[in-house]
Amino acid sequence: MKFETCEIDTSKSKIDAGLLLMDAGVKAETDALYEAVKHIIPYDEWVAHAPYIAAINRMKHEKDAVILAHNYMTADIFNCIADFRGDSLALAREAQKVPQQVIVQCGVNFMAETSKILCPEKTVLIPSLEAGCSLAASITGADVALIKQKYPGLPVVTYVNTTADVKAESDICCTSSNAMQVVEHIAKEWGVKSVIMIPDEYLARNVAAQTNIKIIAWKGACEVHERFESKDIDEIREAYPGVVVLAHPECPNDVVRASDFTGSTGAMIDYVKNKKPKKVVLITECSMSDNVAIQNPDVEFIRPCNLCPHMKQISLKAIYECLRDLKHEIVLPPEMIKKARKSVDAMLNLPKMPANIYKVSNKIPADFELVS
Ligand code: 13P
Ligand code: SF4
Repeated sequence: MKFETCEIDTSKSKIDAGLLLMDAGVKAETDALYEAVKHIIPYDEWVAHAPYIAAINRMKHEKDAVILAHNYMTADIFNCIADFRGDSLALAREAQKVPQQVIVQCGVNFMAETSKILCPEKTVLIPSLEAGCSLAASITGADVALIKQKYPGLPVVTYVNTTADVKAESDICCTSSNAMQVVEHIAKEWGVKSVIMIPDEYLARNVAAQTNIKIIAWKGACEVHERFESKDIDEIREAYPGVVVLAHPECPNDVVRASDFTGSTGAMIDYVKNKKPKKVVLITECSMSDNVAIQNPDVEFIRPCNLCPHMKQISLKAIYECLRDLKHEIVLPPEMIKKARKSVDAMLNLPKMPANIYKVSNKIPADFELVS
């Protein structure tokens, strides 16, 4: 099995904690927060985190800032400083509504760009410039322009895990939570039987396996989810009889087929909350299990997972410095924002639907093509 062990290195923040120290005031401010995470974060680590948590929570108010945190953030960030938490779609919807002038995006760069596209008048900050995404890096706006030349008359559905220039060349965005709905909607609106869906080949295959629309896809992949294999699931089932397997649709087709349920990070969280399986494994990024376990203490979590090196660039220290110095600001050309906004809005304006659930059958989709 190729999973990493679920040990997130906190030594960096321990060393950094030399700058901010635990004292009686910090303890009083953070004791109640520790209650939520005490089963995940040992107290000797908490002593390093607490001064940052207290300082960030104070600064948020002073700077009129809101923290939007993706479900993959570590437990300290997710549970102790975030104002809103969710999957990519939920965070985009929240960005539109927040009254604060400053948005601190605790996630990766494409998420911060999406917030900037939706709130161009606001200051949108990302705590680390290293927080990229292998999917976003797999395609450029120029690539999309060439694809459109090759397949004239077909709409371009673009996963939000892309840069703003890619969104600017697209017709509509999607997330893992609404991909099927978006594909079927746009095909109907354009009166076509094929759509271009970029850049995640696996997500595209997982959609293609259950729609009659032909999907023309790009060969991008999430470096975290593509590493899962169906034999990993067989091994988990053998080792933990009765375990319920939930997977993200960025996983390969056969992994989705071997799982009991596939949906966005938000859909996986809802599944655990509503169905309360006795034993569950989340086939996704490591920190999700910690965060979902905190909310569901009666569920047993099996913890093989893969780390997203980009998400893990976001640390308490980076967030503290980001707020203190109001860095790193997302700046996009106004013309690009205008064009990208059209494709993000086209998605957000669709009627709200329950999150997509990917039920992949054994049928290999006949109507699938990779752009060469
Ligand atoms: P969600 O939209 O499901 O939260 O996924 C985002 C992501 O980056 C998954 O790898
Ligand atoms: Fe990108 Fe994958 Fe990391 Fe999500 S988990 S941010 S898709 S590299």
